[in-house]
Amino acid sequence: MPAHVVVGLHYGDEGKGKIVDHYVARMRDEETPCRIVGRYNGGSNAGHTVKVNGVTYKFNQIPSGILHPKVISVIGCGTVVNPSELVQEIERLKSAGIEVSPENLRVSYRAHVITPECIEEDRVSGSRIETTRKGIGPTYARKANRTGMRMEDFCRANSNEAELLKPYVADAEDLVIETLEAGDFVLAEGAQATFLDIDFGNYPFVTSSHAVAGGACVGLGIPPTEIREIIGVAKICMSRVGEGPFPTEMGDYGRMKKDPLELLDEDGRYWEMTPEEKALVGKDDYQTARFLRRRGMEWGTMTRRPRRLGWPDLVLTRKAARINGITQLAITKVDVFNGIPVKVRIGGSDESPEYSERVYRWDSIIDGSRDLHDELAEFLDDLQNFVGTNVSIVSYGPSREETIPIY
Ligand code: IMP
Ligand code: MG
Repeated sequence: MPAHVVVGLHYGDEGKGKIVDHYVARMRDEETPCRIVGRYNGGSNAGHTVKVNGVTYKFNQIPSGILHPKVISVIGCGTVVNPSELVQEIERLKSAGIEVSPENLRVSYRAHVITPECIEEDRVSGSRIETTRKGIGPTYARKANRTGMRMEDFCRANSNEAELLKPYVADAEDLVIETLEAGDFVLAEGAQATFLDIDFGNYPFVTSSHAVAGGACVGLGIPPTEIREIIGVAKICMSRVGEGPFPTEMGDYGRMKKDPLELLDEDGRYWEMTPEEKALVGKDDYQTARFLRRRGMEWGTMTRRPRRLGWPDLVLTRKAARINGITQLAITKVDVFNGIPVKVRIGGSDESPEYSERVYRWDSIIDGSRDLHDELAEFLDDLQNFVGTNVSIVSYGPSREETIPIY
């Protein structure tokens, strides 16, 4: 059986974790259920959120496949691992009642280890492009410089964490190939996204690994010919955290950065907008972004930074679709635009984007008859025609149930 890859089409936080969960749940009843869910790049920067039966689970390094019985979660050689965070994440999931053991979690012995020195270095060197300060860049730099530490080296050291993690460390890539050879199914999950990829993103405002679909081959040991479907995940209201170009950004990033009202308080709550500010939603981009940020909870899961928000950019989405060779589109968070006129970029340059004269507006996702709202359906039609790939999943909320598969 082949492998499928789930990849983010923009700047991260598209909702990949939820789409992975949807796929694994959907395949459970099929003849060949999913056997492995593997991460192929990135580190503990990720903050995947998946909501099942009213319970919210947050993931940093462990794939969301861990929620499914009989699925092995793999952290591949293309990733970088923070051992103490991994130990904590295992403990956190266990205390939430999730079974985590070397039976269902494997970490590649080839994966590189994020050391405290790497984190310290990132604190300084990462500020220019506003990294997540998780030590990701310095760890990949050491890997390329052949001065890094792999999980196999880490496990040989004498430490509490090494003892705890040793049982999980394995030749994960061999397990992936064996699984494919046995006719079983593998789902690969990318971290970050296409325009944060070290080569295909807006260098230097990028991460340090290959987030694009091709990363699944080198970062998880999937032979290229084994990949059948590539599911591109796009969030309809686009977002970006940190510095870098963002052609369809709503409002000014400089202004948002200095705006104390856009910071969460210590308990993670946001400041409400005044009625005067709310009256500008749909008219003024900055206030529209503030409104959408609150509605969609667009703050970094790990860093709690306010995310920059943007109108749907079909030009970038099409570019990402080509780079990744996607075969399906998954569109997430369509609910955040309810009641707001949606502007769509269809041309121009990144510096001077052109928007369609057609503005879309839907007030609900589903009308009475369980069909998609007309205007949303038209938007999705125009999107798939522009991008050249069919939309196969529409997601309109964080829960597993809030997903419409379009087969
Ligand atoms: P780094 O991966 O921490 O080195 O950060 C490099 C760039 O990628 C910065 O612009 C980060 O904000 C961005 N980035 C890294 N991880 C994520 C993520 O999980 N979601 C969104 N952006 C991310
Ligand atoms: Mg995230």
